[in-house]
Amino acid sequence: MAEDATSGRGDFDRTGGGAVLMDGNRLRDEIVARLAETIEAAGRPRVCLATVLVGEDRPSRIYVRNKQRKAAEAQMESRHVELPADAGQAGVEAAVAELADDPGVHGILVQLPLPDGLDADAVLNLLPPEKDVDGLTPRSMGNLVRGRSGHVPCTPLGVMRLLDRYGVETSGRRAVVIGRSTLVGLPQVLLLGRKGTDATVTLAHSRTADLAGLCRSADIVVAAAGMAGLVTADHVRPGAAVIDVGISRTAAGIVGDVDFESVQAVAGAVTPMPGGTGPMTIACLLENTLAAARMQGAL
Ligand code: GUN
Repeated sequence: MAEDATSGRGDFDRTGGGAVLMDGNRLRDEIVARLAETIEAAGRPRVCLATVLVGEDRPSRIYVRNKQRKAAEAQMESRHVELPADAGQAGVEAAVAELADDPGVHGILVQLPLPDGLDADAVLNLLPPEKDVDGLTPRSMGNLVRGRSGHVPCTPLGVMRLLDRYGVETSGRRAVVIGRSTLVGLPQVLLLGRKGTDATVTLAHSRTADLAGLCRSADIVVAAAGMAGLVTADHVRPGAAVIDVGISRTAAGIVGDVDFESVQAVAGAVTPMPGGTGPMTIACLLENTLAAARMQGAL
């Protein structure tokens, strides 16, 4: 049998099938507690995350509210700007430019997707790199590509934190990332392959031939295609680590890209859904916000 993804390290919770459960809620709580301690120890300086929500998308509203809640637990302040779907490009840009200029705001998150008709790139381009805590602007992405310091996109960074926390070895291991989005897939490939992490990474997508066979050659599979139940036991080498980043709304509710029940019986480690990578996105957003405040001299 292939070597187990977590090499038997740690006293971790396991699924019924014996895989290590990579619990994102638990790790998020640990990170939020650590951030709060750091801010307390620094004498409680103001650290401020601004969120921008445009339109009435219900899931987006819930995501933003969760980010604000966890920011408060981390002893951070949050500022919230809400605009109607018909605010127009100029209206959204004016609101973001004001936050960009405000020295009391350290990090800015523009919740995506923006309503139809708005140009998200033009809005994101207004963010100064030090306040781009989502890591999604061309400058932040360019820094990541070039191996320079800067904010890293939160969801793929959260995946890296889970791999590290649950003892999944990356150096010299094979990883397959399914999905090539700017938000997740592309930065995930860079993070897994960069120096110091040193995985050998393959980027797979909807046109990949024999996806199951390719995934079975991997020690780590990150599923970020947005296709419900795409990854089954047939895609998993015994002992491999499987991380689910997909979110699809189906008649049966919100489901991930990974068929958890079949995969957990084969994998060495697996994320639950919900409770895996979602909470880690928030944890990493708050980590980036503290780093942003440091860059701007707040502590
Ligand atoms: N919508 C879904 N995920 C994200 C995210 O990580 N950042 C932003 N800004 N919007 C999102």
